[in-house]
Amino acid sequence: MKTYIVGNWKLNFNVGESSIYLHKLQKNLPNYRDIEVVVAPSLVALQPLSLQIDRHKMKLAAQNAFYRDYGAFTGEVSFAQLKGLVDYVIIGHSERRHIFGEDDKMVGKKVAAALRNKLTPILCIGETESERAFGETADVIRDQLLSGLRDVSEEEIDEVLIAYEPVWAISTTGHAKLASPDEVAEIVKLIRGTLADLYGEKTAEKIGVLFGGSVKPSNAGAYLTVPGINGLLVGGASLILNEFTDIIDVAKRVKS
Ligand code: 13P
Repeated sequence: MKTYIVGNWKLNFNVGESSIYLHKLQKNLPNYRDIEVVVAPSLVALQPLSLQIDRHKMKLAAQNAFYRDYGAFTGEVSFAQLKGLVDYVIIGHSERRHIFGEDDKMVGKKVAAALRNKLTPILCIGETESERAFGETADVIRDQLLSGLRDVSEEEIDEVLIAYEPVWAISTTGHAKLASPDEVAEIVKLIRGTLADLYGEKTAEKIGVLFGGSVKPSNAGAYLTVPGINGLLVGGASLILNEFTDIIDVAKRVKS
């Protein structure tokens, strides 16, 4: 399986800044066959960047989309409209869930819509600090997986990536703590166990699981060597070109 290094730019960079960043990133990026480098810019930058991107070197992701293909949904953009611009869509990021009120049901519909439109969903799951403190982590993770994958068949599941992002470890929460590789390993085991229950052991092994939460060049290697981890979802560090390229270099070293 490939190793995925995904940069989630969140609400940062205008179109010009996004274009300059992409230019610099792909200029020095080798054409890695075993590492899939993906960036998720702002929606407004996707169209121009889709013309600029060298798809042999890297791919684009959207940060969100709406599950209906067209219709009276003012302000929304559909997966159908993103087809041809991006290869991946981040779905159910904790900021969507907790700031914009996306619930598990909506997240499930979005995953199904991505697959229907032949885009790879990156389904984000993760517990909050208080859920962890109350011992609810396993239930939250299982619930988010079950509802996120509710409409995903055995034939489709290897098109899905899962990103485990403990909300308390996301740098922009202001009081982020670092998740230890052991803490990550425990949840990845739970995720893989749940996937095996749903789709069988063999199929579950083919599903990519990423980790996200304050990933930096200095800790990327430790997270990438957690058993069952196939990549990283990077926020803050993906905005700094040399940090993001250092993380890609770490992935190359660790996984080869
Ligand atoms: P940070 O890497 O800034 O903690 O963000 C993680 C994240 O939310 C990526 O989707």
